[in-house]
Amino acid sequence: MTQTSQASPLSGGESLPIARETADLRATITGWRAEGLRVGLVPTMGALHDGHLSLVRLALQKTDRVVASIFVNPTQFGPDEDFAAYPREEASDAAKLAAAGASLLYTPTVETMYPHGFSTMVTVEGVSRGLCGDRRPGHFQGVATVVTKLLMRCLPDVAVFGEKDYQQLQVLKRLARDLDIPVEILGAPVVREDDGLAMSSRNAYLTTEQRAIAPALNRTLRRVAADILGGAEVSDCLEWGIGELLKDGFSSVDYLELRDSKTLAPLDEAPDGDARLFIAAMLGKVRLIDNIGL
Ligand code: PAJ
Repeated sequence: MTQTSQASPLSGGESLPIARETADLRATITGWRAEGLRVGLVPTMGALHDGHLSLVRLALQKTDRVVASIFVNPTQFGPDEDFAAYPREEASDAAKLAAAGASLLYTPTVETMYPHGFSTMVTVEGVSRGLCGDRRPGHFQGVATVVTKLLMRCLPDVAVFGEKDYQQLQVLKRLARDLDIPVEILGAPVVREDDGLAMSSRNAYLTTEQRAIAPALNRTLRRVAADILGGAEVSDCLEWGIGELLKDGFSSVDYLELRDSKTLAPLDEAPDGDARLFIAAMLGKVRLIDNIGL
């Protein structure tokens, strides 16, 4: 922990300083830079679990000081999505981040992120298309815009994102390349519960009954992957997977698709190179996503 973070008007417990103003964020980072330290950024929307904390740990392997941000970003939620209900647990999040080794929590407000008159949005073409991009119109534009702003405010050497949101990771890699943002965008593997369910802040919405059904998502994904690798027809495998999930109790399947890992172009036959399976399905009102490499 640097002196800067303790001396500035940062609030927070004994454990983790919290910057609520961008000026305080910048003052702390300027102090670190003056000491020659490398800085990592882990953007989140809070309600933190081990998946988020794994990103902090990876960032710490690559840099000397890690800033985690918590901002429930209104522009990436659709009108019928859970922006208002999204869990907000700052005190316990701060304690978890401190234990994971973060040096600073940055919590900007909606008013400073999108002040009156705000009218610039960042659109990443190509990889934003299909999958969640089609199902959640405007979602990746909201993500790209807020992450651009977080990167510009923090100017980190490295920013870490999870492969849990694999399409988002590709969108953000493209964004940094295309806009010449001098940051290394790093992906981190999906962290799962013991039964295979990918950790997600939204898992907290699941009822006990739904929670028991949820692991079928990853189980089915692995079975479909094995069948494709075993030479079965891709379209048959995908159709089987969707049927299986509906039988298991999922309300609907938004998509189950095989795509190229880098370009995210759809693949309709067993892959030559790197391919991934992507799934999104509804369990009642809860939307769960997952993906695995083949
Ligand atoms: P959020 O859903 O809070 O996730 C923050 C980061 O944690 C993302 O990079 C996400 O991919 C990663 N993550 C979530 N669950 C994970 C898991 N089980 N294993 C590994 N990583 C996991 O994603 C967002 O917030 C927002 O879109 C954001 C990038 C912060 C922009 O608003």
